[in-house]
Amino acid sequence: LNKEKVTVYFVDSHGNKQTAKASVGNNLLDVVVENEIDIDGFGACEGTLACSTCHLIFKKKDFDKLPEKPSDEELDMLDLAYGLKETSRLGCQIVVTKDMDGLEVEIPGGVADARESS
Ligand code: FES
Repeated sequence: LNKEKVTVYFVDSHGNKQTAKASVGNNLLDVVVENEIDIDGFGACEGTLACSTCHLIFKKKDFDKLPEKPSDEELDMLDLAYGLKETSRLGCQIVVTKDMDGLEVEIPGGVADARESS
């Protein structure tokens, strides 16, 4: 099992940066949980693509390098996310790779839990 770790930064809408050690092969939801990164309501559905609370915004250059394109299910969920951007993805669908060392992702200024909208 590959236990290699890279450093990932989570930057909130106030510019506060939280540093996480991310295990290669984990997804960014695992990383947030393991590192106790403080994000309101994050990962409400535990990675089952039923919310959109794990919404993260990538820099364009990082977004373009992500190995997996979003699935239709992810895109549907993202449509419901708060503050959707061109470079938005759901953290639980992003698997950490070695070349993500130093990655900086933005935490949106709010969350919308798709399960709570009527
Ligand atoms: Fe719910 Fe990612 S944690 S969609």
